[in-house]
Amino acid sequence: MRRSLVTGGAGFIGSNFVRHLLAVADDSVTVLDKLTYAGSRSSLEGLDPDRVSVVTGDIADAVLVDRLFSGHDLVVHFAAETHNDNSLRDPGPFLHSNIVGTYTLLEAARKHGIRFHHVSTDEVYGDLELDDPARFTELTPYNPSSPYSSTKAASDLLVRAWVRSFGVRATISNCSNNYGPFQHVEKFIPRQITNVLQGQRPRLYGDGLNVRDWIHTEDHSSAVLAVIDRGTIGETYLIGADGERSNIEVVRTLLRLMGEPETAFDLVRDRVGHDRRYAIDSTRLRSELGWTPRFVDFEAGLTHTIEWYRDHSPWWEPGKEAVEALYGATGQ
Ligand code: NAD
Ligand code: TYD
Repeated sequence: MRRSLVTGGAGFIGSNFVRHLLAVADDSVTVLDKLTYAGSRSSLEGLDPDRVSVVTGDIADAVLVDRLFSGHDLVVHFAAETHNDNSLRDPGPFLHSNIVGTYTLLEAARKHGIRFHHVSTDEVYGDLELDDPARFTELTPYNPSSPYSSTKAASDLLVRAWVRSFGVRATISNCSNNYGPFQHVEKFIPRQITNVLQGQRPRLYGDGLNVRDWIHTEDHSSAVLAVIDRGTIGETYLIGADGERSNIEVVRTLLRLMGEPETAFDLVRDRVGHDRRYAIDSTRLRSELGWTPRFVDFEAGLTHTIEWYRDHSPWWEPGKEAVEALYGATGQ
């Protein structure tokens, strides 16, 4: 039985990954999570306590990390500060968790010889024009725009250096925008769903024409596992499910699915440095590792996600007011 340490396992994608791993593999799992505003024990509720334990702590705590690594075979690294808007307000925590945190984990992986998988984002590649036929590939040069994406880019480069310089057995995956249950209400799709549930209007930045390449978090989980099980050490794999959509299209779909007029949204102040478009070419992952996404019906995925937020208000309501107060301060 593999003993896996999942950093950031109480966050959105990490908790969905833990659930996925328990369902499809024999692993026992230790979650290491600082339980920042973005992490919650309740995202792991109901999981088999014989197979999952949670350690509350910081990935930048070298003593704790060293102690935990010695009992594990695999580290899957999700922990990060993840919200672009927060990184524009206060970049400090992003440097700490994303750069120093990843460095701390890599040093422990080197010392203990542990297999390491680093979870990253397509935002390290910067953005594309709306009419550019290109999509990101593993060969696209790094060109991050925001404090968030630049600290994720830095963490990717550290992983590559620790593979080459110290022989750490690591892989990297860069995924497009995820959606699904357990996503924090600061993010685009949950913010708009919970706004509508509370009788408020969705809020679109700028002209609403920015494009994101949406993937269901369940497909992200299966792809990460494919890279862990079948990927080549030292290599990078892009994860995407051909889900390009403009923000305005997403909001109109949400409004229709929630029984509201498709025009019932507001355009608000744009994000500073707002990336125009992300798009992933996941040919390598599909052809080399035989991965295919399963949750490609976006409307069905959104419908299920809306239902999840409707049924889980105790999970998201306590944080909603503070998030909206932060957005209110910047007119967003
Ligand atoms: P999230 O913000 O929902 O969760 C992050 C988790 O990390 C939280 O539980 C938080 O408590 C924990 N954490 C933060 N700093 C920590 C620290 N110093 N020590 C220990 N734990 C810490 O984020 P998410 O959306 O689930 O993203 C997870 C990973 O996937 C990140 O690395 C992110 O860059 C990457 N990613 C996200 C997306 C997306 O669409 N959300 C897309 C591609 C890649
Ligand atoms: P977000 O969920 O913050 O993810 P990312 O910045 O990593 O892509 O935002 C997704 C898109 O939605 C992005 O183009 C910004 C936009 N957006 C809005 O239009 N309104 C909002 O309230 C939020 C939070 C985001």
